[in-house]
Amino acid sequence: MTKKVSDIINCDSPVKEAIFEIQLYIKAIEENVALYKEKSFEKRIESVDFIEFHVIDQIEGLLRKADQPDELIGLKYHAEKIKAELEKIDINLFQKLQANIRAGGYTRKGFKNLINEYVDFNLDDNQRQEEIGYDNLDIFINGLFPFQDMPEQTKELEPEMVYYQKTPARIVIELAEKSHFMNEDVFFDLGSGLGQVAILINLLAGITVKGVEFEPAFCNYARDCAAALNLSDVTFINTDARKADYSEGTVFFMFTPFRGEILQDVLEILRKESLHRKIKIITYGPCTAQVALQSWLSSADPYNGNIYKLGVFSSL
Ligand SMILES: C[S@@+](CC[C@H](N)C(=O)[O-])C[C@H]1O[C@@H](n2cnc3c(N)ncnc32)[C@H](O)[C@@H]1O
Repeated sequence: MTKKVSDIINCDSPVKEAIFEIQLYIKAIEENVALYKEKSFEKRIESVDFIEFHVIDQIEGLLRKADQPDELIGLKYHAEKIKAELEKIDINLFQKLQANIRAGGYTRKGFKNLINEYVDFNLDDNQRQEEIGYDNLDIFINGLFPFQDMPEQTKELEPEMVYYQKTPARIVIELAEKSHFMNEDVFFDLGSGLGQVAILINLLAGITVKGVEFEPAFCNYARDCAAALNLSDVTFINTDARKADYSEGTVFFMFTPFRGEILQDVLEILRKESLHRKIKIITYGPCTAQVALQSWLSSADPYNGNIYKLGVFSSL
């Protein structure tokens, strides 16, 4: 059993005991040299969260009740300073990695290795595939993208169109692995949002990618990201997916961008494309159920009702 602070020191009030405990937390983080190493990205995320949601929150709670707040104000300043120092390491890290991407510094394998250097993730973890959930990998991938603030939606969606939500990064990595891309493949993300899937697939697979997005502000954001990272072969088209030109596409990804009739209309367009060449359709989310019903598509791993498992379909 861990000893309470009051057993160790002679605390005459619960506030003093809490302050002492907070000082111990701060000291432990401050003196943990491993946290200041660039590669300790995941440990740093946990520590920054702990400082923000445990230490600083607790200090603020005490401050609301304190008669003599000086010590607590000093402690809060100290905690914020350590948090800022840890965050600065990641700001510098991501500036460096973005510059490397811009300079074309990663091969496909090199980019995957880069991710593995900073984040420990396991694609075989089936439990994690049963819900959407984001994790440290998403935080890392977000950091690689040069713009962090999401633009405001400017157009109203039709009832069957689905609002923006990002595909979890581990799903995009799984998508790259399961697609077995050929160099000549052209990948489309239908409803490409802020462009993360298309950009990641370009980095992971080195193939030409295109995003089709209804919302102009999202499309512009995605274009700016691709330009800021100096990525060629990445194009974003601002149009309704029912009007896009898919004549070059061989692999089509959908994280349920639309449902019902719109989805069926787009599938019909893709079916016609499949009369000219074999195509793959890869799905994530509720649209998988409707795609699985298409008689012109087959899947080596039939749909089992889990909408958060990637659906991989090939035209017959
Ligand atoms: C669930 S989000 C997926 C975003 C992106 N594919 C990703 O995974 O990060 C769906 C996106 O589809 C877009 N969308 C909805 N209806 C569309 C349509 N008819 N044509 C093109 N894009 C559409 C939405 O604006 C939204 O950005």
